[in-house]
Amino acid sequence: MSFVDREADKLLGLIQEKEATIVLAAIGSDSKERAVLTQRKIPELDLQTEEPSREVAEYPIIWETNRASDLQSQTEVERWRDSLTPVRPKAHHSEKYFPLPYSTENSPSLKDVILLRGSTRRFAQKPVSFEALSTIIDCSTSHIPMDFLPDEQTLIEFYLIANDVTGLPAGSYHYDKSRNSLEQLNKGKSRHVSGYLCLEQLLFSDVSVVFFLMTNLSTVLRNMGNRGYRAAQFEAGVRAGKIYLSAYSLGVGASGSTFYDDAVTEFFSPHAEGMSTMIAVGVGVPAYRSRPGRILPQFQKRLKHASPIE
Ligand SMILES: Cc1cc2nc3c(=O)[nH]c(=O)nc-3n(C[C@H](O)[C@H](O)[C@H](O)COP(=O)(O)O)c2cc1C
Repeated sequence: MSFVDREADKLLGLIQEKEATIVLAAIGSDSKERAVLTQRKIPELDLQTEEPSREVAEYPIIWETNRASDLQSQTEVERWRDSLTPVRPKAHHSEKYFPLPYSTENSPSLKDVILLRGSTRRFAQKPVSFEALSTIIDCSTSHIPMDFLPDEQTLIEFYLIANDVTGLPAGSYHYDKSRNSLEQLNKGKSRHVSGYLCLEQLLFSDVSVVFFLMTNLSTVLRNMGNRGYRAAQFEAGVRAGKIYLSAYSLGVGASGSTFYDDAVTEFFSPHAEGMSTMIAVGVGVPAYRSRPGRILPQFQKRLKHASPIE
């Protein structure tokens, strides 16, 4: 995420106030050797792209936030890269810890999981197993190689409401990575609370678990400036994507949700004092059978020549 926004946008020929570079991802190399830096001028790419949407909705605040968090020069990029410090949660001691059980379930290939994935629009009020929940937590809290996350660090803490998990008492929890355990904050059934916190949507009362991915925004902004807001949002988005994919790999459904910011913080406090939610994701048993997606014909030929995604 350390790049000069204007330069990247210009190189890609993006239309201002319509398109923006979010992140640069290096693929295809795991070489430890650093490439030699060159100052060669690269001409603007003239890429053929499809119109992203037929209808356009204007959200001026998105552009204000984007501008407020841009990096304008190489010096700013270097300064930002050096400012990266991980967010560590305050130490807490809970009465009760539930270690994540180890699961050995085989999962389908990533390609098949991607085709299965689609937000679940109706959940049956049925349980998921603690093993399945553990696999989802394990996959979605694993290391993500990003320039703003040094040494296995993270900006995101996992809080969750367990409505119906076989082998785990209903209640609210925080995932304590150092103990690989769920730390119980409160016990008791709270389907109505999970639905209420997710903007009073019944969908999120019916789920088995709702994850709230939170960060300490004042620490992030103090250490990483406005760009820290992007970093926290981005990391939460990637982790939410991993929740989706790991859930679907287990035959469980998922759906992202909006939420009442302050009410979520209050619900998980005092543990979550000073934390802000970046995204919420409900996970549960779908109430219907959905058809898997398919690879569009125009991409089938290209995929045959690419390496298999397993
Ligand atoms: C950040 C985010 C917030 C969302 N909020 C809601 C929500 O409040 N209510 C809801 O029913 N679905 C919500 N969703 C699910 C979207 O409606 C769903 O992802 C979208 O329809 C795209 O469908 P797909 O995930 O199947 O591609 C949200 C998804 C995301 C990523």
